[in-house]
Amino acid sequence: MFPYTRHRRLRLNPVLRRLVRETGLTVNDLVYPLFVTCGSGIKKEIVSMPGVFNMSPDVALQECISVEKIGIGAVILFGLPMFKDSVASGAYDDNEAVQQTVRAVKENTKLIVITDVCLCEYMIHGHCGIVKGERVDNDETLPLLAQTALSHAKAGADIVAPSDMMDGRVKVIRAALDGEGYQNTLILSYAVKYASAFYGPFREAANSAPAFGDRKSYQMDSANRREALKEALSDVEEGADMIMVKPAIAYLDIIRELREKVDIPLAAYNVSGEYSMIKAAAQSGWIDYNSAVLEILTAIKRAGSDIIISYFSKDAAALL
Ligand code: PBG
Repeated sequence: MFPYTRHRRLRLNPVLRRLVRETGLTVNDLVYPLFVTCGSGIKKEIVSMPGVFNMSPDVALQECISVEKIGIGAVILFGLPMFKDSVASGAYDDNEAVQQTVRAVKENTKLIVITDVCLCEYMIHGHCGIVKGERVDNDETLPLLAQTALSHAKAGADIVAPSDMMDGRVKVIRAALDGEGYQNTLILSYAVKYASAFYGPFREAANSAPAFGDRKSYQMDSANRREALKEALSDVEEGADMIMVKPAIAYLDIIRELREKVDIPLAAYNVSGEYSMIKAAAQSGWIDYNSAVLEILTAIKRAGSDIIISYFSKDAAALL
């Protein structure tokens, strides 16, 4: 009781505060996302994501080399294909940008390379699977996802990360990988991916906004919490090595819930809209960028995430 208990004694100076700090964010926690496209010498800034670029594989490799130098251990790749069609051919084309970049990065660095396995960037309609009428057909989509994951694994990806939200994809991807001798390729499942307004800038970057309707018949309803556990447990059962919650900031309660109930490594995706909001506010002089970035990433870690995928990773690494 006061005056014997004085909480402020523990906050007397920075060294003491550091000694009693409960959550330590380190560069080991961070993954940096990259958008890649075919060609060479391409580095084009994404308008809604200042500081984030579309890059050709050669430029992406240089970027990865500098990411490795500052101590980040892993990258995740997204592809912007040469063309889009209704069967997402580009997704499982061994010579598309993602596959080329994986090969280059694995040959020249020790980075862990994660690939996003989804079809939306490769589909003319921008949906994450085969469209039948107005519906995305779950079961017809599965073989294409498996083929995509396999193509990434063949290129050398360490971890494949399905983000499509089709049911049963982890199982078919595991079977496809094992069937071709890729038993050691890990699966990071976007198990708990909400239908979110915060993907807006990414969809501009990947030109992948759905041409009709929305993703609410496959991505989760943001109001649901019990359902997150159900999704997570079924992916663990299907053989996911790690699972992800996405987005991060608006879903810290979900991260905490899963940390307590699921025993495999947990990742959180601090998505494009979460990045752009901070960038825009900082550019207007309304928020201190560096402090906001560290506060947000620490909050995601404190909520229970082991791995944080963030467009802030490079800036944060320089601050840690
Ligand atoms: C592909 C995919 C998306 C994101 C990651 N993978 C977009 C979406 O589902 O619409 C979003 C990433 C971000 O916003 O940073 N399905």
